[in-house]
Amino acid sequence: MSGGVSVVILAAGQGTRMNSDRPKVLHELAGAPLLHHAMRSAAALGPERMVVVTGVGSPDVEKAARAFDAEVQAVHQAEQQGTAHAVLQAQDLLADHDGDVIVLYGDTPLVTPETLERMLEARATADIVVLGFETATPEARYGRLVTTGDRLDRIVEWKDADAATRAIPLCNSGVVCAEGTFLFDLLREVGNDNAAREYYLPDIVEIGAKRGMTSTVVRCDESETLGINSRAELMAAETAFQARARAEAQDNGVSLPAPETVVFAYDTFVGRDSIVDPYVVFGPGVTVESGARIRAFSHLEGCHVSRGATVGPFARLRPGAELAEDVHVGNFVEIKAAQIAEGAKVNHLSYIGDAEVGERTNIGAGTITCNYDGVFKHRTVIGRDAFIGSDTMLVAPVSVGDGAMTATGSVVTEDVPAGALAVARARQVVKTGFATKFFQKLRALKAAKSGA
Ligand code: UD1
Ligand code: CA
Repeated sequence: MSGGVSVVILAAGQGTRMNSDRPKVLHELAGAPLLHHAMRSAAALGPERMVVVTGVGSPDVEKAARAFDAEVQAVHQAEQQGTAHAVLQAQDLLADHDGDVIVLYGDTPLVTPETLERMLEARATADIVVLGFETATPEARYGRLVTTGDRLDRIVEWKDADAATRAIPLCNSGVVCAEGTFLFDLLREVGNDNAAREYYLPDIVEIGAKRGMTSTVVRCDESETLGINSRAELMAAETAFQARARAEAQDNGVSLPAPETVVFAYDTFVGRDSIVDPYVVFGPGVTVESGARIRAFSHLEGCHVSRGATVGPFARLRPGAELAEDVHVGNFVEIKAAQIAEGAKVNHLSYIGDAEVGERTNIGAGTITCNYDGVFKHRTVIGRDAFIGSDTMLVAPVSVGDGAMTATGSVVTEDVPAGALAVARARQVVKTGFATKFFQKLRALKAAKSGA
């Protein structure tokens, strides 16, 4: 019996129409390279092996693939002679693979794991399973699927199709699933006698049919199979991704009063009964627990917001910001690589970086952790139930003990023991009548000048 599934991801193409120095699959969608989206869908199947076929920009593409999964194997396709030729490059790496192989395209990022599962299930009914979709754009230059009932007879590229074939609404997504050994046998038979002089992966359907093998189509929505060839298509995919992410968040019990203004990343998680207000942007790596509120115009990335916390409006949470339960982070506050413990408040105009803030501590408006000396980053540690006066500069490395206070406007350069008050500012001087005399003098000067 056959074993598990392995995945081949084609990512060698030039991407000429992106008009870019960057390889196409490294352009970003929802905060991650296109390649990672395909790899994520593949990874959800728990594949035995994943092989990425690289070509244009090989070292960078390989590096990006490894960043997603250190175990991934990469193979270089020196010349882009077509999709069949590309899959064949993975043949040696999968020579001893016993089981099915799914071929995905690195530039087709929105295919869902559920759809891939349906394809694997359909393998019980056919030797080759092709993912197809009905296009709403009859002039779209996709390959067309020629079917008889449930059976797929062949796939004809747009370039090679006559008018009647081009009129078929059912298109080839490019995603294919077949038993590995059988797939590579067929691929070796593919020729390049066609309009593009390329070795077409879709030709395995017709070659297979001649050998008595059967092919079938699994259908999905066109939005899932959007292939990216241009910036406009990248934007269309982003729109489709965001629509899906917003709908998913709402299904998961998240309120989005203005859903079309909220931007999600590929891995954003927001818990039940949280509210995400208008114009919130999530970068990669954000988790928000249930019952939290993210107020308008906040920007979050690489951070964790616990149950019941509130963030913003106009807050910025950068990588390593960890807010415990019921923390309040208010307007124009930036937090980076800092743990803010339960019930602490950082409500206005502060920068808290490389720091720890204890439970229930209040950070006054305008407080800054001076964490960077131009070369090194230093930590600030603040205990629980502390009170940091407004406009305190905490010059790290420095600590403020449990229950301690700092006076407003202090520049704190030395550790403050628990329960102490640190005052680190010049003493106030009051000069009686000074202002009155000062302005009298200036006004007299002005009058003398205009009179002259
Ligand atoms: C391909 C399909 C077409 C389908 C369409 C869906 C073929 C011949 N045609 O056309 O039926 O409707 O996708 O989007 O397969 N690649 C390589 N090496 C190569 C050639 C391509 O790695 O030598 C990669 C590309 O980087 C890309 C993918 O394969 O990720 C698809 O190649 P592309 O040239 O975009 O194929 P299409 O013409 O769009
Ligand atoms: Ca394409």
